Amino acid sequence: MARSALLNVMVQAAVKAGKSLTRDFGEVQNLQVSVKGPGDFVSQADFKAEKIVHDELMKARPTYGFLGEEGGEEKGTDGAHRWIVDPLDGTTNFLHGIPQFATSIALERNGEIVAGVIFNPATDELFTAEKGGGAFLNDRRLRVAARRVLSDCVIGCGVPHLGRGNHGKFLVELRHVMGEVAGVRRMGAAALDLAYVAAGRLDGFWEAELHPWDMAAGLILIKEAGGFASDMKGGQNMFETKTVVAGNELIQKALLEVSNRPVPSR
Ligand code: IPD
Ligand code: CA
Ligand code: CA
Repeated sequence: MARSALLNVMVQAAVKAGKSLTRDFGEVQNLQVSVKGPGDFVSQADFKAEKIVHDELMKARPTYGFLGEEGGEEKGTDGAHRWIVDPLDGTTNFLHGIPQFATSIALERNGEIVAGVIFNPATDELFTAEKGGGAFLNDRRLRVAARRVLSDCVIGCGVPHLGRGNHGKFLVELRHVMGEVAGVRRMGAAALDLAYVAAGRLDGFWEAELHPWDMAAGLILIKEAGGFASDMKGGQNMFETKTVVAGNELIQKALLEVSNRPVPSR
């Protein structure tokens, strides 16, 4: 698999950030037993990872814009390109010593995502995709799962929590989805959830209240793996509506319909 120079830059940045996160993840496991807990330490780890990604990407393409979860938006002199970065997706997992977290990097060109990298340093799984070039897990070409009916499917989701999201609306969605599928999973890192859809591990995924940095790289992975994604209204405004529903062509449609069913009368 030949990667473009730009994708190589993104991979290098993600792997370098991953090294830093791996060191800090080891320390987090020691800090679990301290009274103060690892909270502040994890924020530091997160900022450090973003700085590494930022410096690597900006060194390679100094004119591009940069949107990072921690540092916010930096306008580039080049109006066409923007990096979209979540240095640590799955912070709560990381904080609790659960090895399901990743660095997510996407490249947007004139409003379209053209490349994406998602790297989980704990499992050494590197997901990459470029427009027109396919999606890969390390060197293996990815394809979304081929299941055709929801009753065979394992579906991922995000669950709102204290102070976040619309709990009542999510419970209605879950009530409908769980009654139709073989299993529901909440794994805690949206970027990896989307990468898992691309890899055919999850048949589908839906979540509300996501930010562009949670989704951008995952969306191109799914597209390049032959999958489909929309917002929760069926449109393509995932960033604006902060929602996503994904799967293969049939499962994406079915999941969209089921998750939009109205509140049951009893
Ligand atoms: C979170 C994770 C989680 C999702 C949340 C995100 P963070 O990102 O992706 O799975 O449910 O909505 O905010 O805070 O760990 O970068
Ligand atoms: Ca995130
Ligand atoms: Ca994050």
